[in-house]
Amino acid sequence: MSNIYLPNLARIVKTQNETYDTRTFEFELVDPKAKKEFKFKPGQFLEISALGVGEAPFGLASNPNRPETFQVTIRAVGAVTRALHAKKPGDLVGIRGPFGNGFPFDEYKGKNIIFVGGGIGLCPLRSLIEPMLDARSAFKDFLILYGARTPADQVYPGRLKEWEKMPEIRFGMTVDVGNADWKGNVGVVTTLFPKLIQTADNTVVFVCGPPIMIRFAIIELSKLGFKPENIVSTLERYMKCGVGKCGHCAIGHKYVCVDGPVFTYKEIGKLPEKS
Ligand SMILES: Cc1cc2nc3c(=O)[nH]c(=O)nc-3n(C[C@H](O)[C@H](O)[C@H](O)COP(=O)(O)OP(=O)(O)OC[C@H]3O[C@@H](n4cnc5c(N)ncnc54)[C@H](O)[C@@H]3O)c2cc1C
Ligand code: FES
Repeated sequence: MSNIYLPNLARIVKTQNETYDTRTFEFELVDPKAKKEFKFKPGQFLEISALGVGEAPFGLASNPNRPETFQVTIRAVGAVTRALHAKKPGDLVGIRGPFGNGFPFDEYKGKNIIFVGGGIGLCPLRSLIEPMLDARSAFKDFLILYGARTPADQVYPGRLKEWEKMPEIRFGMTVDVGNADWKGNVGVVTTLFPKLIQTADNTVVFVCGPPIMIRFAIIELSKLGFKPENIVSTLERYMKCGVGKCGHCAIGHKYVCVDGPVFTYKEIGKLPEKS
């Protein structure tokens, strides 16, 4: 059995600045056999190491149907993320994973689908949105709602414009604070709910973003009749091993790295507030 703590080397294929502190990295594994065998589920994460600095977990943000290269969107907040931001195409990083449970894709077939993304919370959701769009006819109504703090805080602006124009999906976008060029909605993402959410029946909603946004989204979704088992999110916890060995990510008897990071609100409601 291969060593779960030993990273595979991956090369940065390209990078794309999203905002002033957030960048998308596209990687490919260096070893041809590992590259050929690499696959992941939407919602899974990688442990990525800036060699000589340290390792941190990041949600996969690209389409699992095209795993030859894969993308991760990283906000620079500390030592590891800043060291990753200093890297250029052609540079190498270490990769362990994919880890975690991921979204159970097939369970959502035949349902209405709603995504509620806030800020860089859209990144892990994109790994589910894209394969769902590949299999669009397997799902009923398809609604993407996205909120960013300001127009400059939007991630994937090019892809957002494409989603907005796609006839097979409904799309709503808002910013908390606009500017002179912004002609769209202004207000938090929950202000889009009454205008665009049609029904809670046979509908699953995926919510990902800052904790405050998630809190208010759940309050409003509950008022609209959504049951906790139909509200799905991904949890972030401090992690070390990523594989259920060190206990760093434990909440009660659950390890977020192996039992999550994807949980329904029915499951999260049963977890203790603090471990
Ligand atoms: C499952 C999972 C998926 C993630 N996906 C992404 C992603 O797609 N993109 C991304 O930019 N980040 C993501 N993160 C967060 C990312 O792992 C941290 O930002 C990173 O570990 C910071 O490392 P650092 O050495 O740069 O900063 P540090 O010096 O370790 O931390 C800098 C600051 O960030 C805070 N912080 C660090 N880790 C976390 C955490 N897990 N939760 C909350 N606050 C934290 C610290 O308290 C500190 O204030 C994810 C975390 C988890 C657990
Ligand atoms: S990160 Fe080690 S048990 Fe989850």
